[in-house]
Amino acid sequence: MGNEKIKYKGQEILENLDSIIARDHFHFELKGLTKSTRDVVNEIVQRILDKIGANPLTSFHLFSGLMEVLLNAVKGNTRFVIFKDELLSKLQSSGQTPEQEAEELLDTILETEPLRDAMQRYIVPDKIKKNVQKILTLQDKKRTRKINLSPQDQEFLELVREKSKKYNLKISMKIEIRETELYIRIRNDSPIMGMDLSRIQKSRQLHAELAKEGKSAEFFRPDFLDEKESAGFGIAMVDEGFYNLGLDPLECFSIQTSKHTTSVYLSYPIEALQKMEF
Ligand SMILES: Nc1ncnc2c1ncn2[C@@H]1O[C@H](COP(=O)(O)OP(=O)(O)OP(=O)(O)O)[C@@H](O)[C@H]1O
Ligand SMILES: [Mg+2]
Repeated sequence: MGNEKIKYKGQEILENLDSIIARDHFHFELKGLTKSTRDVVNEIVQRILDKIGANPLTSFHLFSGLMEVLLNAVKGNTRFVIFKDELLSKLQSSGQTPEQEAEELLDTILETEPLRDAMQRYIVPDKIKKNVQKILTLQDKKRTRKINLSPQDQEFLELVREKSKKYNLKISMKIEIRETELYIRIRNDSPIMGMDLSRIQKSRQLHAELAKEGKSAEFFRPDFLDEKESAGFGIAMVDEGFYNLGLDPLECFSIQTSKHTTSVYLSYPIEALQKMEF
Protein backbone atom coordinates (compact mmCIF):
# COMPACT_ATOMS: atom_id res chain seq x y z
CA MET A 1 0.00 0.00 0.00
CA GLY A 2 2.89 2.33 0.77
CA ASN A 3 2.08 5.99 0.58
CA GLU A 4 -0.22 5.82 -2.39
CA LYS A 5 -3.22 8.09 -2.08
CA ILE A 6 -6.68 7.24 -3.30
CA LYS A 7 -9.42 9.83 -3.37
CA TYR A 8 -13.07 9.01 -2.83
CA LYS A 9 -16.10 11.23 -2.91
CA GLY A 10 -19.22 11.07 -0.70
CA GLN A 11 -21.04 7.80 -1.33
CA GLU A 12 -17.86 6.23 -2.79
CA ILE A 13 -16.43 6.32 0.72
CA LEU A 14 -19.15 4.00 1.98
CA GLU A 15 -18.78 1.71 -1.06
CA ASN A 16 -15.05 1.34 -0.42
CA LEU A 17 -15.16 1.33 3.35
CA ASP A 18 -13.47 -2.07 3.75
CA SER A 19 -10.33 -1.04 1.90
CA ILE A 20 -10.34 2.42 3.47
CA ILE A 21 -10.55 1.04 7.00
CA ALA A 22 -7.57 -1.21 6.29
CA ARG A 23 -5.44 1.95 6.50
CA ASP A 24 -4.37 3.81 9.61
CA HIS A 25 -4.38 7.34 8.19
CA PHE A 26 -7.41 9.11 6.82
CA HIS A 27 -7.82 12.55 5.36
CA PHE A 28 -11.18 14.12 4.61
CA GLU A 29 -12.30 17.36 3.06
CA LEU A 30 -15.76 18.48 4.04
CA LYS A 31 -18.02 20.93 2.30
CA GLY A 32 -20.64 21.07 5.03
CA LEU A 33 -22.34 18.93 7.60
CA THR A 34 -25.48 17.75 5.88
CA LYS A 35 -27.20 14.53 6.89
CA SER A 36 -25.32 12.42 4.33
CA THR A 37 -21.96 13.78 5.50
CA ARG A 38 -22.87 13.05 9.12
CA ASP A 39 -23.84 9.50 8.12
CA VAL A 40 -20.52 8.93 6.37
CA VAL A 41 -18.56 10.28 9.35
CA ASN A 42 -20.62 8.14 11.71
CA GLU A 43 -19.94 5.01 9.67
CA ILE A 44 -16.21 5.70 9.58
CA VAL A 45 -16.02 6.38 13.31
CA GLN A 46 -17.91 3.18 14.10
CA ARG A 47 -15.61 1.13 11.88
CA ILE A 48 -12.47 2.67 13.35
CA LEU A 49 -13.71 2.02 16.88
CA ASP A 50 -14.45 -1.61 15.93
CA LYS A 51 -11.01 -1.94 14.44
CA ILE A 52 -9.25 -0.77 17.60
CA GLY A 53 -11.50 -2.88 19.81
CA ALA A 54 -13.17 0.04 21.57
CA ASN A 55 -16.03 -0.40 23.98
CA PRO A 56 -19.20 0.38 21.92
CA LEU A 57 -20.32 2.72 24.71
CA THR A 58 -17.51 5.13 23.81
CA SER A 59 -18.83 5.82 20.33
CA PHE A 60 -21.60 8.14 21.50
CA HIS A 61 -19.18 10.48 23.28
CA LEU A 62 -16.67 10.37 20.49
CA PHE A 63 -19.17 10.91 17.71
CA SER A 64 -21.12 13.70 19.41
CA GLY A 65 -17.89 15.50 20.30
CA LEU A 66 -16.67 15.19 16.74
CA MET A 67 -19.96 16.53 15.39
CA GLU A 68 -19.80 19.54 17.69
CA VAL A 69 -16.26 20.35 16.59
CA LEU A 70 -17.14 19.88 12.91
CA LEU A 71 -20.24 22.01 13.29
CA ASN A 72 -18.13 24.76 14.83
CA ALA A 73 -15.82 24.57 11.82
CA VAL A 74 -18.74 24.79 9.37
CA LYS A 75 -20.36 27.62 11.32
CA GLY A 76 -17.02 29.37 11.71
CA ASN A 77 -16.40 29.41 7.97
CA THR A 78 -19.95 30.44 7.11
CA ARG A 79 -19.85 33.17 9.74
CA PHE A 80 -16.55 34.40 8.36
CA VAL A 81 -17.95 34.63 4.83
CA ILE A 82 -20.87 36.72 6.06
CA PHE A 83 -18.61 38.82 8.27
CA LYS A 84 -16.22 39.57 5.42
CA ASP A 85 -19.05 40.36 3.11
CA GLU A 86 -20.78 42.75 5.51
CA LEU A 87 -17.50 44.46 6.19
CA LEU A 88 -16.76 44.82 2.50
CA SER A 89 -20.13 46.35 1.77
CA LYS A 90 -19.70 48.75 4.72
CA LEU A 91 -16.30 49.82 3.41
CA GLN A 92 -17.74 50.38 -0.03
CA SER A 93 -20.84 52.25 1.08
CA SER A 94 -19.18 54.56 3.59
CA GLY A 95 -17.24 56.55 1.00
CA GLN A 96 -16.19 56.38 -2.58
CA THR A 97 -13.82 53.49 -1.96
CA PRO A 98 -13.49 51.60 -5.23
CA GLU A 99 -13.98 47.85 -5.09
CA GLN A 100 -10.29 46.99 -5.46
CA GLU A 101 -9.28 49.35 -2.64
CA ALA A 102 -12.06 48.11 -0.39
CA GLU A 103 -10.85 44.54 -0.88
CA GLU A 104 -7.30 45.56 0.01
CA LEU A 105 -8.53 47.45 3.04
CA LEU A 106 -10.53 44.41 4.10
CA ASP A 107 -7.42 42.23 3.91
CA THR A 108 -5.44 44.71 6.00
CA ILE A 109 -8.16 44.83 8.62
CA LEU A 110 -8.37 41.06 8.82
CA GLU A 111 -4.59 40.73 9.11
CA THR A 112 -4.41 43.19 12.00
CA GLU A 113 -5.91 41.68 15.09
CA PRO A 114 -6.95 44.82 17.00
CA LEU A 115 -8.57 46.24 13.87
CA ARG A 116 -10.32 42.99 13.13
CA ASP A 117 -11.69 42.75 16.64
CA ALA A 118 -12.80 46.38 16.58
CA MET A 119 -14.69 45.72 13.37
CA GLN A 120 -16.65 42.99 15.09
CA ARG A 121 -18.49 45.71 16.95
CA TYR A 122 -19.81 47.21 13.73
CA ILE A 123 -21.22 43.98 12.50
CA VAL A 124 -24.30 42.97 14.45
CA PRO A 125 -23.50 39.51 15.89
CA ASP A 126 -27.16 38.53 16.15
CA LYS A 127 -27.69 39.18 12.48
CA ILE A 128 -24.70 37.02 11.60
CA LYS A 129 -25.85 34.26 13.93
CA LYS A 130 -29.34 34.24 12.44
CA ASN A 131 -27.95 34.16 8.93
CA VAL A 132 -25.58 31.28 9.71
CA GLN A 133 -28.47 29.27 11.17
CA LYS A 134 -30.64 30.04 8.16
CA ILE A 135 -27.94 28.96 5.73
CA LEU A 136 -27.31 25.67 7.52
CA THR A 137 -31.02 24.86 7.72
CA LEU A 138 -31.63 25.66 4.06
CA GLN A 139 -28.59 23.65 2.93
CA ASP A 140 -29.85 20.65 4.86
CA LYS A 141 -33.33 21.00 3.35
CA LYS A 142 -31.89 21.35 -0.12
CA ARG A 143 -29.76 18.24 0.29
CA THR A 144 -32.50 15.99 1.62
CA ARG A 145 -34.90 17.36 -1.03
CA LYS A 146 -37.79 16.81 1.34
CA ILE A 147 -39.09 20.31 0.82
CA ASN A 148 -38.90 22.46 -2.27
CA LEU A 149 -37.17 25.72 -1.48
CA SER A 150 -38.88 28.95 -2.41
CA PRO A 151 -37.27 30.95 -5.26
CA GLN A 152 -36.08 33.56 -2.69
CA ASP A 153 -34.41 30.91 -0.55
CA GLN A 154 -32.78 29.35 -3.60
CA GLU A 155 -31.47 32.71 -4.67
CA PHE A 156 -30.17 33.43 -1.18
CA LEU A 157 -28.35 30.08 -1.07
CA GLU A 158 -26.86 30.66 -4.51
CA LEU A 159 -25.50 34.01 -3.36
CA VAL A 160 -23.93 32.44 -0.28
CA ARG A 161 -22.46 29.68 -2.46
CA GLU A 162 -20.84 32.22 -4.77
CA LYS A 163 -19.35 34.16 -1.88
CA SER A 164 -18.07 31.01 -0.19
CA LYS A 165 -16.46 30.00 -3.47
CA LYS A 166 -14.79 33.38 -3.73
CA TYR A 167 -13.24 33.10 -0.28
CA ASN A 168 -12.52 29.38 -0.72
CA LEU A 169 -12.67 28.47 2.98
CA LYS A 170 -12.00 24.78 3.56
CA ILE A 171 -12.64 22.24 6.30
CA SER A 172 -10.47 19.19 6.73
CA MET A 173 -10.44 16.26 9.09
CA LYS A 174 -7.43 14.06 9.62
CA ILE A 175 -7.74 10.82 11.57
CA GLU A 176 -4.80 8.64 12.54
CA ILE A 177 -4.79 5.37 14.41
CA ARG A 178 -1.49 5.66 16.27
CA GLU A 179 0.20 3.19 18.54
CA THR A 180 -1.43 4.39 21.73
CA GLU A 181 -3.98 6.97 20.63
CA LEU A 182 -6.71 7.75 18.17
CA TYR A 183 -5.71 11.16 16.87
CA ILE A 184 -8.11 13.55 15.13
CA ARG A 185 -7.34 16.99 13.76
CA ILE A 186 -10.07 19.26 12.43
CA ARG A 187 -9.09 22.42 10.66
CA ASN A 188 -11.07 25.28 9.11
CA ASP A 189 -10.02 28.43 7.32
CA SER A 190 -11.38 31.03 9.73
CA PRO A 191 -10.10 32.39 13.03
CA ILE A 192 -11.82 32.31 16.39
CA MET A 193 -12.40 36.00 16.74
CA GLY A 194 -12.28 38.60 19.44
CA MET A 195 -12.36 37.60 23.03
CA ASP A 196 -13.89 34.23 22.24
CA LEU A 197 -10.76 32.16 22.74
CA SER A 198 -9.95 33.59 26.17
CA ARG A 199 -13.60 33.20 27.19
CA ILE A 200 -13.53 29.60 26.03
CA GLN A 201 -10.37 28.94 28.03
CA LYS A 202 -11.83 30.53 31.15
CA SER A 203 -15.02 28.53 30.97
CA ARG A 204 -13.14 25.28 30.27
CA GLN A 205 -11.11 25.98 33.40
CA LEU A 206 -14.25 26.47 35.45
CA HIS A 207 -15.67 23.23 34.06
CA ALA A 208 -12.43 21.46 35.03
CA GLU A 209 -12.70 22.73 38.60
CA LEU A 210 -16.21 21.31 38.88
CA ALA A 211 -15.00 18.04 37.38
CA LYS A 212 -12.28 17.80 40.01
CA GLU A 213 -15.03 17.84 42.63
CA GLY A 214 -16.82 15.10 40.69
CA LYS A 215 -19.65 17.34 39.51
CA SER A 216 -18.78 18.30 35.94
CA ALA A 217 -22.43 18.04 34.84
CA GLU A 218 -23.31 20.97 37.08
CA PHE A 219 -21.56 23.19 34.59
CA PHE A 220 -24.70 22.94 32.44
CA ARG A 221 -26.95 24.44 35.08
CA PRO A 222 -28.54 27.73 33.99
CA ASP A 223 -26.41 29.85 36.34
CA PHE A 224 -23.25 28.81 34.48
CA LEU A 225 -24.52 29.46 30.98
CA ASP A 226 -23.60 32.68 29.33
CA GLU A 227 -26.19 32.94 26.59
CA LYS A 228 -25.26 36.39 25.39
CA GLU A 229 -21.68 35.49 24.61
CA SER A 230 -22.37 32.02 23.27
CA ALA A 231 -18.86 30.90 24.10
CA GLY A 232 -18.36 27.60 25.77
CA PHE A 233 -21.53 25.55 25.60
CA GLY A 234 -20.68 23.53 22.49
CA ILE A 235 -17.08 23.12 23.53
CA ALA A 236 -18.21 22.29 27.05
CA MET A 237 -20.20 19.39 25.60
CA VAL A 238 -17.02 18.05 24.02
CA ASP A 239 -15.24 18.41 27.37
CA GLU A 240 -18.09 16.61 29.10
CA GLY A 241 -17.69 13.69 26.67
CA PHE A 242 -14.06 13.38 27.75
CA TYR A 243 -15.00 13.54 31.45
CA ASN A 244 -17.53 10.76 30.84
CA LEU A 245 -14.76 8.64 29.35
CA GLY A 246 -12.62 9.26 32.42
CA LEU A 247 -10.25 11.49 30.44
CA ASP A 248 -8.96 15.02 31.06
CA PRO A 249 -10.14 17.23 28.18
CA LEU A 250 -7.52 19.86 28.94
CA GLU A 251 -4.93 17.22 28.01
CA CYS A 252 -6.81 15.49 25.20
CA PHE A 253 -8.53 18.35 23.43
CA SER A 254 -6.90 21.57 22.36
CA ILE A 255 -7.88 24.49 20.17
CA GLN A 256 -5.44 26.69 18.29
CA THR A 257 -6.30 29.67 16.21
CA SER A 258 -4.36 32.04 13.99
CA LYS A 259 -5.23 34.80 11.51
CA HIS A 260 -6.32 32.33 8.91
CA THR A 261 -7.17 29.02 10.50
CA THR A 262 -8.55 27.26 13.54
CA SER A 263 -7.26 23.78 14.39
CA VAL A 264 -8.79 21.47 16.93
CA TYR A 265 -6.85 18.45 18.17
CA LEU A 266 -8.61 15.49 19.76
CA SER A 267 -6.67 12.61 21.22
CA TYR A 268 -8.28 9.47 22.60
CA PRO A 269 -5.90 7.04 24.31
CA ILE A 270 -6.76 3.63 22.83
CA GLU A 271 -6.52 1.93 26.21
CA ALA A 272 -9.18 4.28 27.59
CA LEU A 273 -11.49 3.50 24.66
CA GLN A 274 -11.08 -0.25 25.22
CA LYS A 275 -11.96 -0.04 28.89
CA MET A 276 -15.10 -1.92 29.74
CA GLU A 277 -16.36 -0.20 32.86
CA PHE A 278 -18.03 3.20 32.61
N1 LIG B 1 -13.65 26.12 14.38
C1 LIG B 1 -13.99 27.37 14.71
N2 LIG B 1 -13.80 28.39 13.83
C2 LIG B 1 -14.14 29.64 14.15
N3 LIG B 1 -14.71 30.00 15.31
C3 LIG B 1 -14.95 29.05 16.23
C4 LIG B 1 -14.60 27.68 15.98
N4 LIG B 1 -14.91 26.96 17.08
C5 LIG B 1 -15.45 27.81 17.97
N5 LIG B 1 -15.48 29.08 17.48
C6 LIG B 1 -15.97 30.28 18.18
O1 LIG B 1 -16.04 29.97 19.56
C7 LIG B 1 -17.38 30.14 20.04
C8 LIG B 1 -17.68 29.10 21.09
O2 LIG B 1 -17.95 27.86 20.52
P1 LIG B 1 -18.90 26.83 21.24
O3 LIG B 1 -19.13 25.71 20.31
O4 LIG B 1 -18.36 26.52 22.57
O5 LIG B 1 -20.20 27.67 21.52
P2 LIG B 1 -21.65 27.56 20.93
O6 LIG B 1 -22.57 28.08 21.96
O7 LIG B 1 -21.88 26.19 20.42
O8 LIG B 1 -21.56 28.58 19.79
P3 LIG B 1 -21.88 28.30 18.30
O9 LIG B 1 -23.32 27.97 18.26
O10 LIG B 1 -21.55 29.59 17.65
O11 LIG B 1 -20.99 27.17 17.91
C9 LIG B 1 -18.27 30.09 18.83
O12 LIG B 1 -19.43 30.86 19.00
C10 LIG B 1 -17.36 30.68 17.75
O13 LIG B 1 -17.43 32.09 17.76
MG1 LIG C 1 -20.62 25.20 18.83
